[in-house]
Amino acid sequence: MIIVFGSINLDLVVALPRLPRPGETIVGPDHQAFAGGKGANQALSARRAGASVRMVGAVGSDSHAGPALANLTAAGVDLSHVRHLEGATGIAMIGVDAGGENLIMCASGVNARVVPEWLDGCLETGDLLVLQRELEAEPIAEAVRRAEAVGARVLLNTAPSGDTALAGLVDRVDIVVANEAEAAELAQARGAAGTDAEAHCAALAGPERLAVVTLGGRGLVARRGKKRWRVAARAVEVVDTTGAGDAFVGALAAALDRGAPVERALCEGTAAGALACTANGAQSSAPDADAIAALADTLTCSAE
Ligand code: RIB
Repeated sequence: MIIVFGSINLDLVVALPRLPRPGETIVGPDHQAFAGGKGANQALSARRAGASVRMVGAVGSDSHAGPALANLTAAGVDLSHVRHLEGATGIAMIGVDAGGENLIMCASGVNARVVPEWLDGCLETGDLLVLQRELEAEPIAEAVRRAEAVGARVLLNTAPSGDTALAGLVDRVDIVVANEAEAAELAQARGAAGTDAEAHCAALAGPERLAVVTLGGRGLVARRGKKRWRVAARAVEVVDTTGAGDAFVGALAAALDRGAPVERALCEGTAAGALACTANGAQSSAPDADAIAALADTLTCSAE
């Protein structure tokens, strides 16, 4: 089973002709509200990709809580470990430009009060624990420790920041997924000398640890021990890139959780990330297993 320990947000999205610079105001039409949060997005993506998924996190006591959980409920994600706390549900204010690029500002709300004790009794040997960096650093580190204690595997997605609090944790996880900027930041914190994505990926990988560095429209590089993989992305018509990284992580986790070979898991993650760019919203765009498989079948993962 996949256990996602992470953030749950409501995303307030405005389509803009272009993203604002500091100090600038750009006006768009009506906003749209979508369920979001990196943790919730990844839980939904993994579920739509076919995995059994449990979400551990929190929503507030406000009117945003219901809409933030609606897609997870509809998809059959186990929400029995999502707490309803007094306070505000996490919010993300998102601008999306005409090319689908985004700018995100988050207010954590009750996500900042998520504690690792909520994992006790719901994380078992053989589970895959999926983490991101939208919770506080301390609960993330404690969650890794709990996974170690019960013999669960850990996938750490470093989004939205390769902050140095994560650098020491990398050695304790089984799979690390970072975008180019996060990988560079983490690799530097770990004393890596090289400057390209391959070098950064090598700095995050281990003899048994799979490191994946996503390259947006250029695909990905991955490494475990001396083995290296590369997947070229398929060009799609980009509407909104929000949540594409989360769709990638969820589908990758689902494939690895069912025991798919690394090559296939990387292709399915890449396919899910690409498909997620073709519609608005972080969750509405997360593809199902059939759509992922159809596109993944057309991708090639080269191995060295
Ligand atoms: O990765 C996309 C997500 O980042 C959005 O859904 C938003 O909630 C922010 O957490």
